[in-house]
Amino acid sequence: HPAPPADRFGRVHTDLRVSLTDRCNLRCAYCMPAEGLDWLPRPELLTDDEVVRLVRVAVRRLGTTAVRLTGGEPLLRRGLPGLVARLHALDPAPELSLTTNGIGLARSADALREAGLSRVNVSLDTLRPERFAEITRRDRLADVLDGLRAARAAGLAPVKINAVPVRGVNDDEIADLAAFGAEHGYVTRFIESMPLDAQGAWDRDRMVTAEEILRRLGERFDLVPADRRDNAPAEEWRIAGTDAVVGVIASVTRPFCGGCDRVRLTADGQLRNCLFATEESDLRALLRGGADDAALEAAWRSSIRGKGPGHAIGGPEFRRPERPMSAIGG
Ligand code: GTP
Ligand code: 5AD
Ligand code: SF4
Repeated sequence: HPAPPADRFGRVHTDLRVSLTDRCNLRCAYCMPAEGLDWLPRPELLTDDEVVRLVRVAVRRLGTTAVRLTGGEPLLRRGLPGLVARLHALDPAPELSLTTNGIGLARSADALREAGLSRVNVSLDTLRPERFAEITRRDRLADVLDGLRAARAAGLAPVKINAVPVRGVNDDEIADLAAFGAEHGYVTRFIESMPLDAQGAWDRDRMVTAEEILRRLGERFDLVPADRRDNAPAEEWRIAGTDAVVGVIASVTRPFCGGCDRVRLTADGQLRNCLFATEESDLRALLRGGADDAALEAAWRSSIRGKGPGHAIGGPEFRRPERPMSAIGG
């Protein structure tokens, strides 16, 4: 196996997040404006062949072992199961996972599982239909719940729920969401919101901190710390006396940049060494200019060498990245 790229801080990069589209069929208020964004023009997106080529370089030459497909909403990508099957057929095959809003997952879960997808994380911020429609500006809670059930039935395990609590919006549902996950066999994870919305409206005071999330969970459940997977963003707990697991992703108050093993590829073929990177490496230009695998590998390693220590959300040096989260891939 090739040595995976290490950065100046000794962090080794084995995890790749690939955004397959910047489009989305929801309009979560903490993510994008009601009218949507200026989506990338089709010719700028990597084709399936280009995605497969870059992931092949990643697994064969760069020691990538896990690939997460993200968006925007990755299920909007036509022929997604076919692309998953091609990635699964690579040698060595990466572990394949998907982060989705769940719309349309009921229809595609079986096909994705058969194509070689291992597991899915589904965004769900509320269990109340009217509130769902307010947060996402679309009345589709039932589709998401169907998607969750279908993913579980298809064996895409563990199925995880990602919830972003926002003060005054859904922070009163933290324990309810955890109970829902526990009852149905989903791992529920609560995420501190980051200043990555397209509108630039993020407000530290509306973010619900990990400490507060844990206090709310502690009011209803006895939590037993679970082992943390190396470099995992999520800290996890088991609900005492059950198999149920809940987690917190405390990007802002307990940053995990020091153990980061992730690199990102945007839907238009730009490699980002950090969610908050201020520079990108144009792999699409290299690909379309006829670069060979060695040149792609070299550009990739060079990008990792240039990786900074991490984000400084809340600090005076913090700069928002030029792209919003929906165009980076979370
Ligand atoms: P698992 O492998 O299932 O633990 O997935 P994950 O948590 O790494 O991925 P997911 O796409 O479900 O992301 C959940 C949240 O973690 C999102 O809000 C992501 O933006 C956040 N996240 C993932 N990677 C990073 C990272 O490198 N830095 C920061 N700050 N947040 C991240
Ligand atoms: N901060 C933190 N998480 C966010 N997500 C979307 N926007 C933000 C943000 N600004 C979550 C989504 C999805 C995951 C990939 O990231 O809810 O579950
Ligand atoms: Fe779409 Fe995800 Fe943004 Fe919601 S958070 S609008 S589901 S990309």
